Amino acid sequence: MWTNFMEWVDARFPATKVWNEHLAEYYAPKNFNFWYFFGSLALLVLVNQIITGIWLTMSFNPSADGAFASVEYIMRDVEWGWLIRYMHSTGASAFFAVIYLHMFRGIIYGSFRKPRELVWIFGMIIFVLLMAEAFMGYLLPWGQMSFWGAQVIINLFGTIPVIGEDLTVWIRGDYNISGATLNRFFALHVVAVPLALVAMVFLHIVALHKVGSNNPDGIEIKDHKDENGIPLDGIPFHPYYTVKDIVGVVGFLIIFSAIIFFAPEMGGYFLEAPNFIPANPLKTPEHIAPVWYFTPFYTILRAIPNDQLGALAMALSIVVLFLLPWLDRSPVRSIRYRGWTTKIMLTLFVIAFVILGYLGTQVPTPMGTLMAQICTFIYFFYFLAMPWWSRWEKTKPVPDRVTH
Ligand code: HEM
Repeated sequence: MWTNFMEWVDARFPATKVWNEHLAEYYAPKNFNFWYFFGSLALLVLVNQIITGIWLTMSFNPSADGAFASVEYIMRDVEWGWLIRYMHSTGASAFFAVIYLHMFRGIIYGSFRKPRELVWIFGMIIFVLLMAEAFMGYLLPWGQMSFWGAQVIINLFGTIPVIGEDLTVWIRGDYNISGATLNRFFALHVVAVPLALVAMVFLHIVALHKVGSNNPDGIEIKDHKDENGIPLDGIPFHPYYTVKDIVGVVGFLIIFSAIIFFAPEMGGYFLEAPNFIPANPLKTPEHIAPVWYFTPFYTILRAIPNDQLGALAMALSIVVLFLLPWLDRSPVRSIRYRGWTTKIMLTLFVIAFVILGYLGTQVPTPMGTLMAQICTFIYFFYFLAMPWWSRWEKTKPVPDRVTH
């Protein structure tokens, strides 16, 4: 019956063809390791955000008068509402944790390099969309940090010469953040950006499947094929990696549930304390800080005393990531076969990024600002000097076939 049914479907829709091309006969390198869990985990978290988001929308009231109370209503009165809300708010942090690790994998194994530039570019567009999505989502509960965080970020657009002021009014839909802002952010957060995100994830995977996955050795498995044209170092994605990915999913769900059930606010890092107070346009919180996943970029903004230059540096810190495929000039892809310069530069970069993130959660001090400036310098130096340091260093011989 099943065969007959599939024949019927295949005559009308390429179901088996797509299944084979992208799963059962999609040959992935057999040496995937821990770092390759995060792509499928990003998909899982995306689905989690969409589903919990749909259910939150059923009880959320997107108005300045009702938003805060409707979140309290979801937390206290809606059946399982607290769980859905925490799955969504913790899910936002999980999304960034997973994405940062996913991007880091790309960096250490040179997965952004030819011919995978578009996989990386689509990934970066996803990253920017994700930041917009998280930023607009944070306004919705209409707490103190929602309001004042949005105030700071929207005002950044005001630093753009000539059009800045008008632009901020256009974004807010008002002269100050108001119900109109909340309404439009709701529309964008719930419909427009998720649609764009899903479309970009689709393109990300299409681009990846066109060129095939990279791997921890950074070599092309397509260079060695058997008589049937199957890569000697490849294994079918399904069942091998579908099963392997389940291991990642289980590990992830253990950590994710532990956080949801025992520390959903993560000591103020996932949901900040001032956000349990309704938004008050007349009272600025003592210390305005974004959620942890934005803090490295926020610190770059604060490190530069001039507002305009600070905003520019922050924008450039994201733009430079788009350029990575063209900045890296090393003859080899993977960190495994690179020299000490790559390892030292990358370690410095990671330390600087973490310190930038930490500083963004703290009240600025003169010492902190100096640290922020040093780390901002390291951040940009890593990328902008890459065409030189990546080319000059001595690399190790790269094997012909994958190692495992
Ligand atoms: C919603 C967000 C995202 C989803 C669902 C997603 C999904 C995936 C999946 C399923 C894979 C294949 C499995 C794997 O290699 O782990 C992959 C590969 C890849 N992704 Fe993403 N991704 C996302 C965001 C990003 C971002 C933000 C970047 C970087 C800017 C990125 C860069 C890459 C690269 C370079 C590869 C190829 C890795 C390799 O072949 O070694 N992705 N992605």
